[in-house]
Amino acid sequence: MKKLWTNCHIATMQDGQYSSIEQAAIVTFAQRIHWIGAEKDVPVDDYAETIDLNGAWVTPGLIDCHTHSVFGGNRSVEFEKRLQGVSYAEIAASGGGIASTVRATREASEEQLLASALKRIRCLLKDGVTTIEIKSGYGLDYSNERKMLRVIRKIADTLPMTVRATCLAAHALPPEYQDQSDAYIEHICNDMLPKLHQEGLVDAVDAFCEYLAFSPTQVERLFKTAQSLNLPIKLHAEQLSALGGSSLAARYQALSADHLEFMTEDDVKAMAAAGTVAVLLPGAFYFLRETKYPPLDSLHQHGVRIALSSDLNPGTSPALSLRLMMNMGSTLFRLTPEQTLAAVTTHAAHALGLQDTHGTLEQGKVADFIAWDIEHPSEIVYWLGSDLPKRIIQHGTEISI
Ligand code: NIG
Ligand code: FE
Repeated sequence: MKKLWTNCHIATMQDGQYSSIEQAAIVTFAQRIHWIGAEKDVPVDDYAETIDLNGAWVTPGLIDCHTHSVFGGNRSVEFEKRLQGVSYAEIAASGGGIASTVRATREASEEQLLASALKRIRCLLKDGVTTIEIKSGYGLDYSNERKMLRVIRKIADTLPMTVRATCLAAHALPPEYQDQSDAYIEHICNDMLPKLHQEGLVDAVDAFCEYLAFSPTQVERLFKTAQSLNLPIKLHAEQLSALGGSSLAARYQALSADHLEFMTEDDVKAMAAAGTVAVLLPGAFYFLRETKYPPLDSLHQHGVRIALSSDLNPGTSPALSLRLMMNMGSTLFRLTPEQTLAAVTTHAAHALGLQDTHGTLEQGKVADFIAWDIEHPSEIVYWLGSDLPKRIIQHGTEISI
């Protein structure tokens, strides 16, 4: 069943640029883009449906490539403490932080976790996000990590979105393994990860490489296991200190290294050589009132792909709008609106290993696109918050929002 979508302008985002086609049209066939180009060149065919997009600007569906959107409770009280001067690391050291979300997540049922996550993710969907990555990492034992990953699979069954599940069992040390971080990593490698993977619950593996979490040596142990299971790798690296996690990630051909405020020039070079995407998280940077910037000039100079993401999580980035993060990405990290849009489409697709099917609008790719009621694509980045009028097309079908 071919559908013709007419009367629009398209930012295809090929080669990381707008690569615009004005006065354009798209033909979709089932879930894919069958043809895309200038309206005057539309192939003559018997279209089942013709849809007038009223002069909208069409972009690829947005991709949020780093979220922790499944969790119990929230940390608004901790936010108040931080504003009184207590640091994120101090809160973590006193049993708060990630550990407090672990307690709340362990207490919650699958149904409760699903219901609260759906509320948050619907906000992202309404903002134009059609692909999302969601991490586990607040369970920290087999049954609770499994519970989170099962919820992530249920989100995929419930919402019209592409959902990727990342196992972040190496997010923090669970109370059962206090002062035994090597033993916990062994438990993940020998037991948890192989089992969760065998159940079909894992699309990628991530870890928190940080002085208050896991060392590069421990992360490398986990990477070796991920590699032996043929699972792609991602890493939280250089968020609070420089441990060389991003270079380690690059050595293991990671899809992405994320945060990166403290990364060095050598890390940048290693990531450039490996094609590892730099995922920058302006929400966490802003919310933690970070002052150290990722090395933006160096990342550009060495041609590292830069993605942006919400990092939606209860501790460092309770962000319910990817568009707001895009504005922050431009304002704080000096990305042009074009680079910012590339950061949440084509580059974010690379950060998930989905670049062959998602992230740009071209023939053969999945027909996920947003028709924005705006005069120019830069407006997607320009307006701060709220809801921009739009139509969302996922897998060739318009969805109601
Ligand atoms: O991406 N850095 C570690 N993980 C999350 C924070 C998780 C939390 O504080 O609950 C992040 O910022
Ligand atoms: Fe994160």
